[in-house]
Amino acid sequence: MASSKVFLCLVFFFLCSLNFFTVLATEFNVGGDKGWVVPTVKDDQVYNQWAGKNRFKINDTLRFEYKKDSVLVVTKEEYEKCKSSHPIFFSNNGKSIYKLEQPGLYYFISGVSGHCERGLKMIIKVLEPAAPPQSANHTSTPTVAGANVANVINGMVFVAMLFVGIFM
Ligand SMILES: *[C@@H]1O[C@H](CO)[C@@H](O)[C@H](O)[C@H]1NC(C)=O
Ligand SMILES: *[C@@H]1O[C@H](CO)[C@@H](O)[C@H](O)[C@H]1NC(C)=O
Repeated sequence: MASSKVFLCLVFFFLCSLNFFTVLATEFNVGGDKGWVVPTVKDDQVYNQWAGKNRFKINDTLRFEYKKDSVLVVTKEEYEKCKSSHPIFFSNNGKSIYKLEQPGLYYFISGVSGHCERGLKMIIKVLEPAAPPQSANHTSTPTVAGANVANVINGMVFVAMLFVGIFM
């Protein structure tokens, strides 16, 4: 059954190369299946718990799904007060996408009166890039130095699959 092996090999090829060439940004559905909703009383830390279980990196996006609510990005002080007059970001269209473009902390709250107080708020930490950019004196080649570790691993898997494909 040589043809099925060739086919399998091609499938592996395809999947690996897809992975290999896409920038590894992830879209997170905030709060999982429930989305962005006022938590129950005993669950008022649910969003920070959800955030704590995930690792966010630059260029990942957050998707907020909700009904009759809103998403605001605010400062730390405003987050603690659950109030913002000039949010950094505001959306209330039911499906907000927010891209995390910088490392650091992001403070999200609901803009609906009382919802933030009841736990509809969240802090997201975006990690520094894995390989920080080189300083002004780049003696080594910056592209190699900045190579994403995940991409290298993907490349190794790719080569391994190729061997499996050939010698199967
Ligand atoms: C994030 O995306 C921007 C624009 O698409 C790109 O220029 C930048 O290199 C990306 N940053 C990382 C760390 O992937
Ligand atoms: C770059 O190298 C020069 C000479 O080796 C040194 O004087 C300078 O301080 C370095 N600059 C940085 C940003 O490291």
